[in-house]
Amino acid sequence: MNETLTKLKDAALSKLNQVETLNDLETVRVEYLSKKGHISLMMGKLRDLPNEERPAFGQIVNQVKQEVEQALYEKKQILEYAALLESLQKEHIDVTLPGYQFYQGSTHPLTQVIEDIEDLFMGMGYTVEEGPELENDHYNFEMMNLDKDHPARDMQDTFFVDEQMLLRTHTSPVQARTMLKMKGEPLKIICPGKVYRRDDDDPTHSHQFTQIEGLVIDKNITFAHLKDALLTMVRHLFGPERNIRLRPSYFPFTEPSVEVDVSYVKKDGSIGYIEILGAGLVHPNVLKMGGYDPEVYKGFAFGVGVERIAILKYNIDDIRHFYTNDIRFLNQFKGVNKI
Ligand code: PHE
Repeated sequence: MNETLTKLKDAALSKLNQVETLNDLETVRVEYLSKKGHISLMMGKLRDLPNEERPAFGQIVNQVKQEVEQALYEKKQILEYAALLESLQKEHIDVTLPGYQFYQGSTHPLTQVIEDIEDLFMGMGYTVEEGPELENDHYNFEMMNLDKDHPARDMQDTFFVDEQMLLRTHTSPVQARTMLKMKGEPLKIICPGKVYRRDDDDPTHSHQFTQIEGLVIDKNITFAHLKDALLTMVRHLFGPERNIRLRPSYFPFTEPSVEVDVSYVKKDGSIGYIEILGAGLVHPNVLKMGGYDPEVYKGFAFGVGVERIAILKYNIDDIRHFYTNDIRFLNQFKGVNKI
């Protein structure tokens, strides 16, 4: 009996020795160590032996089993390590291969102009305020000194949702809202945002456009403060050699009011002026409605069209380019972070 066991062990060990893959190793394991494997079957033979021989036989079978198990374990370690080495070799990553190209977008040219103007004014202590595009008549017109039947409303016809609600025609309602919020305290704000007017779209008109308005209210505000803010903005946007020209104008919410032109050099070398924005000193009625005593507080305000700035700066021939999302147009403004 012992001889059979020794043979069995030798056979198992020599098979293990020759095994070259983990699969084959598993086959050997099943053949010898599974429930119906040779070694387990030997255990079954215990029952056929006389009682006194059983313990010795059992011990030997166990010993054989342990030896084979140990050999199997060692072989498994070796084969697993070899498999690992092989997969490391095969899956080796070439870090010098070129990576994927990621498409990087950029901000819209109008956003670039807005952010540039915001940066400038924030540096001068202004805060940025925003408000709703769907606005109440009260803030859009009445608080801007435009009563229900004011003839100047014709200049700013818009899209009405009902009698009271409309798409705002300018960002001035943000000024009205901020005045009320500040409860009579001095303020310095700019308000960027989309505005809407009834208009027939063509290369220079759009029913939707973008404005930035500025408003400063304090005790000793004069026209000189307004002029300084305008000149600073114009030179920041177009260059230090530029000048501004003010022409008397009319807005219901400012008195006096001006149109502001910026200088440019014409093809023949002479100086020309082109209109870029409206401005003025805040009308006493607007101050009053906003909660400021016009005897104590004064203010200046200006409103500039963002498209107009971008058109002049980049020589754009059609305002509609800003809204049609043609990637060939937009790509020209990639990387123009500081305009
Ligand atoms: N809100 C005016 C407009 O849209 C612009 C403006 C603002 C003019 C502030 C003067 C002062 O026409």
